[in-house]
Amino acid sequence: MAKFRRTLLVATAVAAVASAQQQQQPPEDTTQQPEGLHALMLSAGKLYFGTATDVGNHNDEKYQAILAHQGEFGIITPENSQKWEVTEPRRNQFVYTTADTVAEKAQDNGHLLRCHTLTWHSQLPPFVSSGSWNASDLTDILTTHITNVMTHFKGRCYAWDVVNEALEEDGTYRESVFYEVLGDKYIPLSFKIAAQADPEAKLYYNDFNLETSPKKADGAERIVKLVRDAGERIDGVGFQGHLIVGQTPSRRALAALLSRFARLGVEVAWTELDIAHDFSSAASNGSSAANATQLEQQAADYVSVVGACLDEPRCVGVTVWQFTDKYSWVPLAFPGRGEPCLWTATYTKKPAYDAVSKLLREAAANKTGVSTSSAPTLPTPSSISGAAAALSRGGSGGALLSPLLGVVGGLMAMFVL
Ligand code: G3I
Repeated sequence: MAKFRRTLLVATAVAAVASAQQQQQPPEDTTQQPEGLHALMLSAGKLYFGTATDVGNHNDEKYQAILAHQGEFGIITPENSQKWEVTEPRRNQFVYTTADTVAEKAQDNGHLLRCHTLTWHSQLPPFVSSGSWNASDLTDILTTHITNVMTHFKGRCYAWDVVNEALEEDGTYRESVFYEVLGDKYIPLSFKIAAQADPEAKLYYNDFNLETSPKKADGAERIVKLVRDAGERIDGVGFQGHLIVGQTPSRRALAALLSRFARLGVEVAWTELDIAHDFSSAASNGSSAANATQLEQQAADYVSVVGACLDEPRCVGVTVWQFTDKYSWVPLAFPGRGEPCLWTATYTKKPAYDAVSKLLREAAANKTGVSTSSAPTLPTPSSISGAAAALSRGGSGGALLSPLLGVVGGLMAMFVL
């Protein structure tokens, strides 16, 4: 404890020195801006830039060097290891080995956790998906699972994806085991259990194709209201952002979508962003590797998505679903599509990385991002929110100061963890 306090004081002092130095710098001197997407996000007034990662990536030194690079990422999402089939493979038998390993890695790197996911039809253990449940049994199962998992990670999650992908493309409810047995009541029920298990974590509904399916977006809005009407807490809507190069909506359309949800009073975030090339398209000309034109289009599409977050004050940040093509889920799930990430499979930064970096530098210089005073204010005082707020303060402290305050924020997160 004392050691942490000392470290924190030292880091604060370093930040204060940097602040003094910062005051002597012309604010428009972008050459003095920090390196790394998270540091730049802070400078632009947002809470974080993050990535999905998991234990399967832990022995890859080049990968780990980028993950740990100060300022590149501020928060991580376990790609698979917090899912139900991993954490409760058999009824009432909870296994946190891999998820704890990811959480420890986050702690080592000074990253917060964005936790994923609780009530989801996919990656369920057979005991849930194959059982013949009545409402009472399934309610017990949901309550036990959500309570146990959230309690285990309590104090370490900035947010939880409480309910994931409950909608079909036409906006109707997905025919999951939860919907079949409990009807739409399973959604507010999940949020109720989650709020009791960890009052400090932000509680999200998370889904894909909200960006491209208007009826699905209507369904997500209905879910926010459903939870609220049931008297339960919902803090955020996560837009997964699994998109396709050349088919990504414009920045303006994406910002309008985020704003539509922000007006409901929830915070919003890009939670699983990746933008894949469709190698069956004419633009590919039979090749299964992106050409220069496709890479430029991908860069423009990333700018649209990240730019939309900058445009909406209640958008707290962006998480990419892995940062390197080497570990992307896309080609495994969609043969013929691929290379959706910001780094190549051999860890070269792509034009999309440079374009996002430039966008964030300009946002920081022009202060087009959300200011600290208009930062999201939903459920506030908590250890995790405190750490996030410390990260956020980097945004108002100036470009040079930001990464150092990011360090302080990271240390605070470690302190909390
Ligand atoms: O763990 C088994 C391993 O034991 C087995 O040997 C191996 C053989 O294929 O499979 C492993 O399981 C894989 C698992 O990832 C863990 O690596 C599954 O096959 C594979 O299907 C699974 O894919 C994950 C997918 O969710 C499952 O739905 C992806 O990695 C993960 O990126 C993806 O993430 C989802 C989000 O959670 C929700 N939104 C969509 C997103 C993309 O599908």
